[in-house]
Amino acid sequence: MCGIVGYVGPRDAEEFLLEGLRRLEYRGYDSAGLTTLSPSGRFHVTKTVGRIDALADALVEQPTPGNLGIGHTRWATHGIPSVANAHPHFGGDQVLALAHNGVIENYLSLKEKLLAEGYQFASSTDTEVIAHLIARYLKRLAEEGIEQESDSPYALPIAAVSKALSKLRGTYGLVIVFRDWPDMIVAARQGSPLVVGVGAGEHFVASDASPLAGYADKIVYLADHQIAIVRADKLEVTHRDSGRIEHAVHDLAIEASDVELGGFPHYMLKEIFEQPESLENVMRGRLVDEDATAKFGGLNLTPTDLRHVNRIILTACGTSWHAALVGEYLIEELARIPVEVEYASELRYRNPPVENGTLLFAITQSGETADTLAALREMKRKGHPTLAICNVVGSTIAQEATGGVYLHAGPEIGVASTKAYTSQCATLAMLALHFGRMRHLSFESGKRIIGQLRALPDVIRRTLDLNGEVRRLAGKYCHATNILYLGRQYNFPTALEGALKLKEISYIHAQGYPAAEMKHGPIALVDRETPSVFIMPQGFVYDKVMSNLEEIKARGGPVIAIAAEGDKDVARLADDVIYVPPVEEFLSPLVTIIPLQLFAYHIAVLRGCNVDRPRNLAKSVTVE
Ligand code: AGP
Repeated sequence: MCGIVGYVGPRDAEEFLLEGLRRLEYRGYDSAGLTTLSPSGRFHVTKTVGRIDALADALVEQPTPGNLGIGHTRWATHGIPSVANAHPHFGGDQVLALAHNGVIENYLSLKEKLLAEGYQFASSTDTEVIAHLIARYLKRLAEEGIEQESDSPYALPIAAVSKALSKLRGTYGLVIVFRDWPDMIVAARQGSPLVVGVGAGEHFVASDASPLAGYADKIVYLADHQIAIVRADKLEVTHRDSGRIEHAVHDLAIEASDVELGGFPHYMLKEIFEQPESLENVMRGRLVDEDATAKFGGLNLTPTDLRHVNRIILTACGTSWHAALVGEYLIEELARIPVEVEYASELRYRNPPVENGTLLFAITQSGETADTLAALREMKRKGHPTLAICNVVGSTIAQEATGGVYLHAGPEIGVASTKAYTSQCATLAMLALHFGRMRHLSFESGKRIIGQLRALPDVIRRTLDLNGEVRRLAGKYCHATNILYLGRQYNFPTALEGALKLKEISYIHAQGYPAAEMKHGPIALVDRETPSVFIMPQGFVYDKVMSNLEEIKARGGPVIAIAAEGDKDVARLADDVIYVPPVEEFLSPLVTIIPLQLFAYHIAVLRGCNVDRPRNLAKSVTVE
């Protein structure tokens, strides 16, 4: 869960490497480093513990000149955050330097062999093993005279890399520079994302597209088992098994403004306020009035295939799993197809009986979450159609799924997912409409649902006007140590998501429950210090939720209610009420979550937490 960058070209490499690491900081931020290689073959390296700001300060004292270099921002898996464990790591007698994103499972056994051969280790990382392993093969293959057998000046370093990679078990995104070949970077991937930005007479390498915005306008998505030789004016891609391959070059779909704060104090708040546009983007071109349905260009399934779907499995992690829960209610209500929601980390090993006619959707913002990728691969191995609902174009899950739907929500940089969540829920609503209209959902109902969906962005704009009110409320509750979130039916997932948002950025313990579940135990937690947030828009379980609210009030628990405008009853009981615009129940989770995103955000700010880079977390969890 780290971020890696590389640059070769006429510019001062340090400038791009540092800015690139800033943009990748959401992937890991406990230590960082970069190294450049001068044409004379001298390495300049600077590494620090902590965030990229610390590295930037250190570079003032210890600059890294040169037009070629690599960099890394870390989320420690092997070895504590320290300067010694920070990347890049050197191989052999500093014949190469590399930075790595991923985990090498068999590093200990390889390390023992290298130690026995006299290699010295400066760190306790798995990554340094790769560096020494490549250095070992560079030496051996040179002794075997491999260079004489090939006309490529890079035959030796490429052969050494291939040989070393063949010994590794695990995942990697790698950028490697060689002392004796100071005009190229080798980039290789297996299970961790890696892209190359194509510029005029320069190339950029990065873990994802965000560092490229404003630097390159073309992008190459590397796939597993591919090795790229990246030079200033040339990019060659080879595949482990099939040698040199033609690589597809795509237009870069993001601009610099997408990855800048745009006047907001934090990316999370910017992304909360981008939700009206991200919802317009996810629906654009997908709502079909003449058929009163939704259409998707990338499912790669025929209407007959879709007609024969008799079970849907939605699998995901974290916030995406909460969107899957909303999807279950939507698809079962609108399409009458049985749906199962599975934690990807459980599904990958649970081996459930899955009969034909089952469709799997892997829901993921980043497209790189290891558990979700593994669950998708497991279902694909068994021959089931595996679709992805994903935000990052060209990501691993998007590449490996048999089809899918892109969210087009734009880069989501805040670690706490917000706009991706509402876009995932909107996509699931459109899929429910699509499946429903292939079954029993009437033309009339389809029209009504399309009307509701189209009205959503403006409803969200109105809901965002509550920001000031929610900030005041956050001031009242920011000292709480435990908060309960309660909802029923469509808004049970909202309770879970609201609690997760608060937990992950303010570090306050919070728990979401189906409101009726309280009396089966959790109500014991209720006291004057433990607020309960009730998510209770109008709908067929409103009265039930109101009785649950009264049970909490009867035990002296403070109550915050998220209710629909015009609801006078709740104001008589709740201590505080946030009124959201009314929408039909099946879309209410996309509206009721907005004040909960803002509530968590303002409480975290008031508690002085780093909202965009919460402790112990990273934006995409690429290790198991
Ligand atoms: C949500 O705010 C968290 N960042 C986390 O739970 C996230 O949803 C989870 O890691 C899944 O990520 P994905 O959607 O990129 O697969």
